[in-house]
Amino acid sequence: MTPASHVPVLQREVVDALQPRDGGRYVDGTFGAGGYSSAMLGRAGCEVIAIDRDPDAIAAGRPLAEHYAPRLRLIEGRFGDMAELLSAEGVGQVDGVALDLGVSSMQLDQAGRGFSFRASGPLDMRMERSGRSAADLVNEAKLNLVIRNGFAAMFYAPELGVGPLQQIIPQIQALGYTYVSPGSVP
Ligand SMILES: C[S@@+](CC[C@H](N)C(=O)[O-])C[C@H]1O[C@@H](n2cnc3c(N)ncnc32)[C@H](O)[C@@H]1O
Repeated sequence: MTPASHVPVLQREVVDALQPRDGGRYVDGTFGAGGYSSAMLGRAGCEVIAIDRDPDAIAAGRPLAEHYAPRLRLIEGRFGDMAELLSAEGVGQVDGVALDLGVSSMQLDQAGRGFSFRASGPLDMRMERSGRSAADLVNEAKLNLVIRNGFAAMFYAPELGVGPLQQIIPQIQALGYTYVSPGSVP
């Protein structure tokens, strides 16, 4: 899915609530495909500072930033660091902040990123594309994993010990699940 084909959730309602005004300055803390930012910039002669932790979202947003230059600024980072990120841009006060929390459809639709419910992919799930992956965390936590039809369930069962667990595994497999032992998630 391209940013242009992405349909933002509650876009009009969010912009109605923010009531952007000419000369105002707003933060879109979860830029994604830029739906909220575009709607704010289209509604008034305001400025938007857009933040996203996903480098792909920031890269895909460059044409939009050029289109609205200099009213749209893109920052790669986390909205939890908003005060520091804005301060680094020389921005003190803002007139409103929008947050659209969660995963974007662009992230969900790319199987290789590991967020998809439909397509198989690596257990990655890193919005920032760096640091420890979901597979690293699962392996470090010594979790057992069962997978069926692309859906995974994890359980922590050290109290069972190796013997009883070995007895359960054939039953899990008979139900059509694949068992993945701790530390061996690809
Ligand atoms: C539901 S999408 C936002 C869609 C956006 N409102 C639009 O109209 O296209 C959520 C976005 O928030 C980003 N995100 C998630 N957690 C974040 C965080 N802590 N800081 C910054 N961005 C974050 C994701 O990378 C994703 O691009």
